[in-house]
This record gives sequence, C-alpha cells and structure tokens, in this order.
Amino acid sequence: MSTPADRTSANRVPADLVLGGPRPLRGTLRVPGDKGISHRALLFAAMADGRSHVSGLAGGDDVRRTWLALESLGVAVAVDAEGRGRGLAVTVDGSGVEALSEPRDVVDCGNSGTSIRLLAGLLSGRPFLTVLTGDESLVTRPMRRVVTPLRAMGARIDGRADGALAPLAVRGGGLAGVAHSLEVASAQVKTAIVLAGLQADGVTTVSEPEPSRDHTERMLAALGAPVTRLDERAVRVERGAPRPLELHVPGDPSSAAFWAVAAAITPGSELTIEGVNLNPTRIAFVEVLSRMGASVSIEHTGEELGEPVGALHIAYGALHATTIQGVEIPRLIDEIPVLAVAAAFAEGVTEIRDAAELRVKESDRIATVAAMLGAMGIGVETSNDGLAVRGGKPTPGHFESHGDHRIAMSAAVAANAIDGESTIVNWRSTATSYPEFVADLAATTGGSPA
Ligand code: S3P
Repeated sequence: MSTPADRTSANRVPADLVLGGPRPLRGTLRVPGDKGISHRALLFAAMADGRSHVSGLAGGDDVRRTWLALESLGVAVAVDAEGRGRGLAVTVDGSGVEALSEPRDVVDCGNSGTSIRLLAGLLSGRPFLTVLTGDESLVTRPMRRVVTPLRAMGARIDGRADGALAPLAVRGGGLAGVAHSLEVASAQVKTAIVLAGLQADGVTTVSEPEPSRDHTERMLAALGAPVTRLDERAVRVERGAPRPLELHVPGDPSSAAFWAVAAAITPGSELTIEGVNLNPTRIAFVEVLSRMGASVSIEHTGEELGEPVGALHIAYGALHATTIQGVEIPRLIDEIPVLAVAAAFAEGVTEIRDAAELRVKESDRIATVAAMLGAMGIGVETSNDGLAVRGGKPTPGHFESHGDHRIAMSAAVAANAIDGESTIVNWRSTATSYPEFVADLAATTGGSPA
C-alpha cells in the first residue's frame, strides 16, 4: 500500500517557477479542500468511536503531517479508491481517544502550525509522552500561547525556552477545565484548548479579543460533541467526544483567494470558483476586493457539517486602495500576502494595520511581503503591525518565496498579471498547501507557464 508521502505531490513541484504575463483567467475552477477543515476532520475522526469517511481532503504536506501523526498514535487511515470530486478520500477507524497509544518516535509536523498546536491540545489529555517538532520555520514559531493554557489544565509540557518553542514534549492526562482568555485571536490555540477540554473534568471556556475562524465550533457541534458558543468570541466545552463523520471537505477559501486576486488584477479575466467554503470567518477577502472595485459576488449552494458552501464569481476591475484593520484582520490573516498584491495593482496607498500576527506565520510576512513587492518596483512602508502599499505598475523580476507557500503563490499571482517574464524562487514551498497550483493556473489561463 502507498504511504501518505507517495500520495502527495511535494516531489513533483518544481524548485523554481518561471511565469510570463499578462494572461487573463477564464472559466470555472475547483480549488483543493480546505486545509483547516482537513486537519480537523482527521483529528475529530480519530477521536470518535467508529468509522468515518472524509473525501476532498487537502493534498498538501501540512495535512499529510496530521495524518502521519495520527497513524503514529495508532489510528488506521486508509485511502479509498473512489472519492467524490477533487482530493483524496479516506476511511478513518477511530476507537476514541483512550485507544491512542504512545508514538515510538518523535512526531515531525513539518511546516504545519495547525498540526503541532492542535496535536498539543489533543495529546494533553493522553497519559503518555509525545515529542512534537517541525521544520526550521516551525521551530521558531511561538508555542507559549498554547503551552500556558494546556499546562494550566494539568498537562506536563516542556520545550525549548521553557516551552516557548518546539520541540515540545507533551505528557498529558488528569486535566481539569479552565477559563482562558487568549491575548491574541487564534483558532489554533482555541482549538487546542477545546480538544483538551473534551478530555478534562469540569467546564473549559476560551474567549478571544476578536472572533477567529470557527470551524472547530461548527464541526464539533454538528458531530454532537459538548461544545457550545457563549457568544461570537467565547466557547464552552465539557468532557465528551464527536461522533464519526461523513464529510466532503469544501474548497479552501484561502486557495480561492489567489484566483480571486489573479482575476481581479488581470484585464480580461472572468472566473467562477465552485464548491468553496463560504464560512463568514474566512471570506473577508471578498469584501475587501469588492471595496477595492473588483466585480465579485458569492452564491450559496449548500452546507457541509455546519459550513456554508457555494461559488465565487470574480472579474477584472480597475482597483483602488483601501484600509484593512481591526476585527477584519483575523478573518483574512492568511490572505494578506495576496491582498497586498491586489494593493500593488491598485491606485493609491493601501494601509494594513493591527496585523502583528503576520510576523509569526510561516515567514515574517510583513518583511517577506515588503521584499516581494519591493522586487516588483512597488513602494512599501512597514511598521510593527502592518504595511502601507503604494499601488503602481509592478515590473517583472525574481521573487523569493522565503520558504513560505503563500508568499510564493502571491508572487505567482502578480507575475501572471505583469507584462514580461518573472521567476518565483523556491516555488517548492507551495507543496505544503497547494501542489496543484501550476496545473490550475494553466487550466484557467489556457496555457502552461512561460
Ligand atoms: C488556522 C488558524 C490561523 C491560520 C492558519 C490556520 C487554523 O492561525 O493563520 O493558517 O486552521 O486554525 P492562528 O490560529 O495562529 O491565527
């Protein structure tokens, strides 16, 4: 049988990508399954007692890391021959959290912040040792935000810099509920505490300064787990477990955002993206593009496990600058690199504020976005928590991904709209979330890269 490594296409993604533009995008597209929902679907299926079926699973390396971690904890995940639509279909045989067993080796979460933080929460409830680590980016990312509340619940967690950095050694069990207020809105930390709360005595509550994405609340409630919303910014959880699930993962709005911006900035484009997750905590980028003058609309067509699903229609428009700040930020945090590309093609100065979290993503995205736009001849001013982008006429060049998938794809979106030939250096990083990007670009622009 093939391993998850064989079934993902990391090794088929070219090292660098050369692209010539401008090429309009036309037609209809489906994007890979939502990455955040794919991680959660695998984890919740592993926690359930019984057989789950998940199709449309995101195929990149990040979700593969959660999958491999669950296999190392003793969970059986089998690939189904027949899936519905795009992406992998799997059967997960869960036997409840009590059946998880101590992994023999260190669990490598690669580049995936969602894997390490959600697994830390799940494993805080288990009475054995797990060591969680990751690649050179992940071991620099902040872990104290997840370690502190999990320790307060009773988990023993150690790590570099007293638990501020991975590798993390988690020895769980004997948890008691806490009331925790997050300093920074974070769906990963919220979810980690919820997964621990499902294994704790008493009541656990988590509140956030602003609402972050709410897939965990929606999915777990739909699966009958004792998770309730107190309000938009707070969730309550008691001991319990989700039921096994039947889920077709909807398309990832964060992947759709690349195509939405590509169409918005490339004259002659008109694109429909079908089967996208339209969860309101994920699609603030649609509102921003509309504010900037793009012709964009959404159409709801159904629902999957409490998540609204539908189509996104987008066409080229002459863009103008906007301001992105405050409560909008957690709802589009992953889309800021590509929205900064939209700003580079817009008239006027776009301000992005209150986004200090960008500094601790897969790269320091305030610095790497500024470097990318600078390499296109666009003026950018950075601050601690944001950027000001002076729109203009971006020029071709060499754009470095800094090992960050979203910077690489944002640069490709720009390169596709720029007159001339550009190279995205270290394109390979896109294997973490969207290994099929080049094929989708070819399908929508009617040709292969330059
Ligand atoms: C995610 C939450 C966000 C987001 C990340 C995925 C999730 O991170 O940036 O790509 O699936 O919960 P934070 O929780 O750090 O904000």
